[in-house]
Amino acid sequence: MLQHYLFVGFTAIYYSQSAANPQRRPHLFASLALQEAEGSRTVDRIRQVKTAEIPLWLDEQMQRHISDEVRHAQIFTKAVEREGYFIDLDSEAAQQSLSSVGEGSMRRYHQVDDLAAAPLPSLLASVLLAEEMGVRGFRCILRALPSDLTVTRTALESVLRDEERHVRYLTDALRYFRATSVVDAYRRDIESKMFKDLGKVVEFLTKPATERPSLVQPGQKPDLSLI
Ligand SMILES: [Fe+2]
Ligand SMILES: [Fe+2]
Repeated sequence: MLQHYLFVGFTAIYYSQSAANPQRRPHLFASLALQEAEGSRTVDRIRQVKTAEIPLWLDEQMQRHISDEVRHAQIFTKAVEREGYFIDLDSEAAQQSLSSVGEGSMRRYHQVDDLAAAPLPSLLASVLLAEEMGVRGFRCILRALPSDLTVTRTALESVLRDEERHVRYLTDALRYFRATSVVDAYRRDIESKMFKDLGKVVEFLTKPATERPSLVQPGQKPDLSLI
């Protein structure tokens, strides 16, 4: 329980500080754009490799989920541009970020070479945890976001509504597969791993923005179709 609160607390500090700080905000939005794009690809991959096990109602929700995440990636890309930056996809930070989210991280977590080798409820449980973190993160960001950024706020509110829906349908799916205990076990596991790395987490949170690898460059990039 203590681990859970520490985990939630640290995530909240990270999101709130980043959203409030104009130097860190473009980087935060860029990392969210990459995560959202990667999230879409991951759900799409699960849908493809598990077609035979997915009932129609769940498939419809997953299709909607995939297009929601594409839209979210576009929203965050635009939010970065509104701050006067563009996402530097060639940066080391971008490459690191892409390998630490989405399908690659899910394969590592489930210790499989292909998502097809992991049970569907386990994959859905991992997605649900990511969505829960997203909901918590977006709520923090919305609380900390300066009030004059009205366009970004409205867009973020619509993202949050989608994420809440993702949490609801995935919770229903895990009930349907009688696998809610899988989520609880993963949640404890991920939080205890994070707890073991607490030193690194604190170091990351307290590092000045100028010393962090950046996902963004100042200026506008004309070609927005890369994400
Ligand atoms: Fe999303
Ligand atoms: Fe989502």
